[in-house]
Parts: sequence; structure tokens; C-alpha cells
Amino acid sequence: MSWKVKSNAFDLDTLLVEESLFFNGNGYIGIRGNLEEGLPPHAKTVQGSYINGFHDIVEIPYGEKLYGFPENQQKLLNIIDAQRLEIWVGKNGEREKVSLFSGEILHYERILHLDQGITERVLHWRSSQGIEIKINFVRLVSFKTRELFQQYVTLTPLSENIPIQIISHVNGDVQNFADQSDPRVASGDSKRLKINNLAWIKDSSYVEVEAHTSKLRAAMLSHVKISASNASNEYKLSETSIQTVINFTLTQETFIDKRTFIGDSSRYEDLQKSLVSIKETVSHLPYEQLLNLQKEYVSSFWKNTDVLIDGDEYIQEAIRFNLYHLLQSAGQDGKTSIAAKGLSGEGYEGHYFWDTEIYLLPMFTLTNPKLARKLLYYRYSILDYARKRALEMGHSKGALYPWRTITGTECSSYYPAGTAQYHISADIAYSFIQYYLATDDIDFLKEFGAEVVIETARLWLEVGHYQGGYFKIDTVTGPDEYTAIVNNNYYTNVMAKYNLNWAIKVYQILQKEDPKYWQQLTDKISISTSELAAMEKAATTMYLPINQDLNINPQDDTFLQKEIWDFEGTPDDAYPLLLHYHPLTIYRYQVCKQADTVLAHFLVEDEQSEDIIKDSYDYYEKITTHDSSLSSCVFSMMGAKVGYIEKAYDYFLETARLDLDNLHGNTKDGLHMANMGGTWLAIVAGFGGLRLKENGLYFRPQLPKAWNGYSFHIQYKGRLLLITNNHDGFKVELLSGESINLYIWGKEYTVTNNSAVLLA
Ligand code: BGC
Repeated sequence: MSWKVKSNAFDLDTLLVEESLFFNGNGYIGIRGNLEEGLPPHAKTVQGSYINGFHDIVEIPYGEKLYGFPENQQKLLNIIDAQRLEIWVGKNGEREKVSLFSGEILHYERILHLDQGITERVLHWRSSQGIEIKINFVRLVSFKTRELFQQYVTLTPLSENIPIQIISHVNGDVQNFADQSDPRVASGDSKRLKINNLAWIKDSSYVEVEAHTSKLRAAMLSHVKISASNASNEYKLSETSIQTVINFTLTQETFIDKRTFIGDSSRYEDLQKSLVSIKETVSHLPYEQLLNLQKEYVSSFWKNTDVLIDGDEYIQEAIRFNLYHLLQSAGQDGKTSIAAKGLSGEGYEGHYFWDTEIYLLPMFTLTNPKLARKLLYYRYSILDYARKRALEMGHSKGALYPWRTITGTECSSYYPAGTAQYHISADIAYSFIQYYLATDDIDFLKEFGAEVVIETARLWLEVGHYQGGYFKIDTVTGPDEYTAIVNNNYYTNVMAKYNLNWAIKVYQILQKEDPKYWQQLTDKISISTSELAAMEKAATTMYLPINQDLNINPQDDTFLQKEIWDFEGTPDDAYPLLLHYHPLTIYRYQVCKQADTVLAHFLVEDEQSEDIIKDSYDYYEKITTHDSSLSSCVFSMMGAKVGYIEKAYDYFLETARLDLDNLHGNTKDGLHMANMGGTWLAIVAGFGGLRLKENGLYFRPQLPKAWNGYSFHIQYKGRLLLITNNHDGFKVELLSGESINLYIWGKEYTVTNNSAVLLA
């Protein structure tokens, strides 16, 4: 099955979207798919290169600033631009730049090679003076050498003796993209970098920049090598950029190897020295070898992560595309996470949200626990900020994680749909617990997880209160951002309950497994038996709203009292509602931006009966706009759960190709990472029905009519399992590790080494 995603479009609108779709990244750096040769002047583009977490601190302007509003926010910065590599053909005086917008395009194609970890552009071009040339551009952002961005260009002459001039740029005069009309994109303050150093060092261009307020520094060291023997080089320095100009006559196939090494001061104190030395470590490796290393890395990723769909090439392409981009975006250093747009664009300003924990970590936890651990560790590393924020918000203890952040402080300026989403703290706790259930990694739980789970549980004791014998949580916002500041949001309450229960369990596990460590932790966070008893009481009496007449869980205390939004009278072009109505207008109605209660029923399914879950699904489906890309995948997963397999499939289609087909119209701002993780969830947890529970692994497999079958791998407690569902039946194979019990449609089975459970 295909490992290639291809396009041959080169109209300006598509190229803008493809800057995101064909970005190259490795979790540390991300380079948008801008063209080496550039675009015509005035074409809309987001020319972008990013380092995960590299930000400036920007003051948040408020008309009325109230107590506790964050003063500043972090903003991911577009750093130096080293993508440009122009090719000019013809004699001096008659030179013409190779471009998609001049001369004649005889063939053009762009390919993402999912199995090789590279992108490629193939161009067969004839200049207006009749010079013909084939050019092949390959881009590789290395998974092995995280600082390396490589452009490898092959020139094949189809005319004789072509005079060529190559101009390679490294440009420090960059800024961020701004759009006043869309709150999901930054609106101002786009120029935040000053050039610290710009120099020609031995054979390379070096540009170092510094962020205005954070003082973080980033640098690129770029070197161009060419295989032609008759080439002459010179370099040109301006105040903001360096150009390397190479002239030669093209008589045979010729290779240009541009290697740019990218680093930042949070990793390297002496950037220049570090980048020079990293460059040396790979300078002896030819392109083919770097490509092989890349392939090796990517192939080991696919070994555990690939999902196969039998009978639908179109969907197969989409799934691999989504999974690959998740890999490209996931921070792997424990200091960073996965931004809402990954490293593909500037939407949501490079911030990390709950998206990572609820939508992305499930895939990493079950296919790549090592990487999952890094993402979880990042949350542990910002626990002190969450503790501080809890105090600032008037709580005497506990941890309140920021709704959106890079370094750990709250970056949301609109608190009703930001800070008020307290559920993020429970979501983070949930992801630590799910990781523990999937891995049995007691050391990680001990050293990092326990503290996070207990500190977040404490928050609920602080924010909740008793009324009529129930523990209630007031004045929060659930995941659905079209309803804000409510009492007893079902999602928040049920997740808080899970959080509280697990705080107690985790504490008991540590006491049993490692009494010495348990004592240390007890002392460190001063937890007492009376506090644990309070947690237990709150969890047991947690109020979970229910409406007997409708047989559903109301989203919150007043949700059902509101009028239902006039969907009939809302024109198609008024969606997403958030761009056309004041929030108060939206808050007055029953209308959901995204899955809320339905998502809670996925995460904590044993709290409600199957019929309540089904009736709730029916109810919320009618009033959900899916204006957030985090929604359709949940309706797909839960559609499968409640028996609507074909509906599940339809939602799945919306999810799987959301970016490839630009279904939300804003892929240019970056890819929708949570949705991409949702694709995996829709297959594994939706059609496969997989759930991770305390007493094991559960499946409820189903097969959509359109497919012959599907299969995926998971890693579970040190074992590798291959799950297949097709017309022959449902099969679980144990590829490595010890035998294990699991539940299929509620019945217990044992799968032993090198054997399989097969249900026809
Ligand atoms: C969604 C949030 C999400 C954020 C970033 C918003 O549109 O409503 O749930 O966290 O996007 O992806």
C-alpha cells in the first residue's frame, strides 16, 4: 500500500495550504513547505521555520485587567529563514529564475515519502528562452541529528552547457504571521527578534537572533556544497542576511547539498560553537547515508505504529499521513510537548493544550511508550507553575495547569474559554494513569506521576463544595467552548472523580511497592490521611448530573434550560459560529462547539449505563456543530460504541482527511494535531473498541461496511500485540512478551506467546 502523498497543484491557494501539509519536522524543529525558489511578490505565504518551544514573552493587552489575569503570554517565534535556494539559468544579462510562475512547466509533482521521512519536489522546466532542465528538490529534517535541516537538489540538464547561478539565502529579517480577523491566529506583535550575529564562518553562513523579552537565542549555520567541479563561490553579507552565490556551467547531473544546523540557547549556551561541532559530526556522511539513517528511524516508527486499512487506499493514505505528522511534531526532549498545530504553523501560537493528553498521548502511550514518557515528563516539569497558579487563583493548595502554555504559565487571555477549563488538570492526571495502566511503569509513577495525580486531585477539594450531600464543582468551563462558566459540568465532575479516586490508589500503590519512597513523597507534599479521606468522600459523593426524562447526562446544571440554537435559520457561511456571533449570544443557547459529555462517556465509560450513553449521544449529536476539529473523531469513536457503525464511519471520513482536504479551511495556519490523533483513536478505540482499564485490555471490534479489514499494533505492558479485524474474524496476536488475558465483548480470553485469539 502506498507510502506516498502526492500533489501536482501549484496555484497560489493550494501552495499556501501545502506549506502546512508538506512541512518537515522532527519534534525539535519544523520547517514549512515553502518553495526554495520563492513565490511571486505579494503572494500570500507563511514563510516559517520553528523550534519547538522557542518563544518570546509578549504582554497581553487588556482594556480592563482584573485580578489573576495573566500579564504575559508566550508566543512561538518564526525564526531565521534558510529555506531559500534560487536557481538561475542563462547567461549573465539574460538570467531567468527557475520558478513555477515563469517559463513553462512540463511536469511538476510534490511527494511526501512517508516511509523515508522526506519530501520531494520534481520539476521539469523550460525557460522562456528554451533552456530545459529537470530539478529534484529533497528535504529532510533529521530524526537522528535533531538540529539538521537538509535540502538536496539534483539538477539534470536537458539543454547543452547551461550557465547556472545558485543563490542560497539565510535571512534573519523575519516575522510572525498575523491575522486580525481570526482569534485562532495571532493578531499582532509579529516582529520579536533582533539579529545578534551575522557572519561568514569558514565555509558557512551563521545567523544568530535573540528574542526581544525572553532573551532566548536561536541560530542557523548553513553550508552549501555542490558536486560541479567548475563552480565558483562567493558570499554576500547584508545587515540582515547572507547569500552564497555559486556560478557554474551545467553539463551533467549535478548535486547541491545545503545543510542547515539549527539550535537554540535553551539547549546550547554557546550556539555558534555547538552548531559548528554538530556540523562536523555529520560532515563526512554523504546524503545517501543521512537518508538511510532517516529511513531506519522512520521504519522503526512504522513497525509499531502503522495502521492498515484493507479496501480503502484513500483512507490508508490519510491515516499514515496523520500519524507521520504526529511523529514530526512530538517534542522528545522532556522540555516540550505537541503544540495544537505541531511544528507546521503558527496557529494558536505554538501553545500546548489538553489536546496532547486526551487526543495524542493515547497513540504514543500504546505504540511508543518511551516517547509518551517524555511528553508526560514535560507536564511534571511544569508542576511548580501549576501549583503557583492554583495559589494565585485563590486555592490554598493543589495544582491548576494552564489552559495554554509553552513554559508553564497561563497564556490564555480569555478566561471563560481558557483558565476556566479546570478540566485540563484532570486530563493531565488521566494521561499519567493511562500510561501506568498501559505500561506498569511503576518507577515513572513513583518519581513523577504520583505527584501530578495527587496535586491535581487536591485542586478538586479546593474548588468543590458540598450541597445536599453531593460534592459539586461550580463555575468552570468544560471542553465545549460554546458554553462557559457553569456549575457541575458533567465532563469536569466525572474526570475529577477519576482523578480523586486515582490519587488514593496511587498513594496506596506506592505505600505497598516502595514504602521508603512513599514516606519521602508524603513528607514532600505533606499529604495526610485526613486529606485522603476527604478525597475519597468527594469522589464517592461527586455530583454527576442526570436527567431522568431524557435519560441523558446534562452537560451542566443549566444546560437543558436554555433554548436550542436555531440551526435551521443559520446559514452555512455563519459557521464556525465563533467567527460570527458574540460569545454571549452563543452561551445563551444549547449549541456545542465540540464533544463534551460524549467525550466524558468515552474516557470514563463505566460511570454510566450503555443506554444513557446512547441517548446522550443522540441528544448531543443534534446540537453539536463540530466547529472545533476535536469533535468529529469523538463522535466517530462513540458512534461505534453505541452501535451506529456507519455513522461512525462517516464521522471518521471527516476526521481522517480533515487537513488533506482542508475541510476546516484553515490548514494554512497549521495542521490540526488533536484531530490527527483522533484518527488513530477512531480506529483503535472506535472500530476496535479498545479501552485501557485497571483489570486489563478491552476490545469491542466492529468492521465498517466499506472496508475489508484493518489492523494495528499496540505495546501493552512490555508485550507487542497485533490486532486484525477482517471478514475472517477478529484476531489478537502476541508477537512478543508473556501471555496475557484480555476481554473481547466482555468475555475473557488468554493469548499466549506466538499464538492468537481468533473470533470468527
Ligand atoms: C478547541 C479546544 C482546543 C484548542 C486547540 C479549540 O478550538 O475548542 O478544545 O484545545 O482549539 O486545539
